[in-house]
Amino acid sequence: MKQTYVKDLFVGGDVTDWFLVKRCEIKTGANGKQYFDILLADKTGDISGKKWDVEGAEATLLSKIKPGELVKVKAQVTEWNGQAQLRLGRIRQQKSVDALQMAEFIKAAPEPPEAMFAYLRGKAEGIGDPGYREVCLKLLDRNKERLLYYPAAKANHHAIFAGLLWHVKRMLMMAERCCEVYAFLNKDLLMAGVIVHDIEKLNEMEADETGVVSEYTLEGQMLGHLVMGVRTIDRLAAEIGLPREKAVLLEHMMISHHYEPDFGSPKRPLFPEAEALHYMDMLDSKLYDFEDSLLGVTPGTFSDWVRTLDGRKLYKATT
Ligand SMILES: [Fe+2]
Ligand SMILES: [Fe+2]
Repeated sequence: MKQTYVKDLFVGGDVTDWFLVKRCEIKTGANGKQYFDILLADKTGDISGKKWDVEGAEATLLSKIKPGELVKVKAQVTEWNGQAQLRLGRIRQQKSVDALQMAEFIKAAPEPPEAMFAYLRGKAEGIGDPGYREVCLKLLDRNKERLLYYPAAKANHHAIFAGLLWHVKRMLMMAERCCEVYAFLNKDLLMAGVIVHDIEKLNEMEADETGVVSEYTLEGQMLGHLVMGVRTIDRLAAEIGLPREKAVLLEHMMISHHYEPDFGSPKRPLFPEAEALHYMDMLDSKLYDFEDSLLGVTPGTFSDWVRTLDGRKLYKATT
């Protein structure tokens, strides 16, 4: 049923098609008039849309549209701040979406979630230190259900179905190679740090089974996944009798992995595995954004500006 994808839209064109609602809200503009602000998506990407001057019965109807639903829209593709945006005409709501349709609308990690989970679990089983191994296996097994679909972010890197598993899997692959080059690193500690570092994203954000985040939780907003992660490790350490130093090392990796106080880290890394964790985390998120932003760009040309890479326009080489 779907004919036009987000990546095919061009400024000046128009579109009538189905999209998945990622976020939507009725807002009031500077002129005091209400407008409908919506983020629409399909498997190729997302695009924001505006419907101007909504009031009365129309506003009531639009306020019933919720993230995770499919809507059919008729719209013109316009440009705002250098990015394509939809000026919406008609919006028709369809509530129920079956699993088959969903594949058209959800941007997903390139590997099946069960296979990625099995990879993480296999690496956790391979951790030699019994304490770190138990922490990882317990956290993975207790959170399996949500890990199979959770994204790693609301709007930034890996904001895709099963994006969190994909992020951790690639970091584990990197960590193994990193330990070959820098043989002085404690591989058990680094692998464990990678597996646990973002686990509390599961409780920081509210996501539905399509991997779309609707909002941050109370704990997510007030504490964030770093501090929440420390609480989780603390509780688990007490439960399984993890030696104090090992618990503190894992907790330190948790709170220092964003590096800067402005990004939520109260401490910078104080041992090499924690430093390596931070840079692997950064590298994976940045390279994901490069890879994703260059999809569909014609060789020899530049991409649109990429918000998550501070507005850079990326070049796709011809060779
Ligand atoms: Fe993080
Ligand atoms: Fe991360």
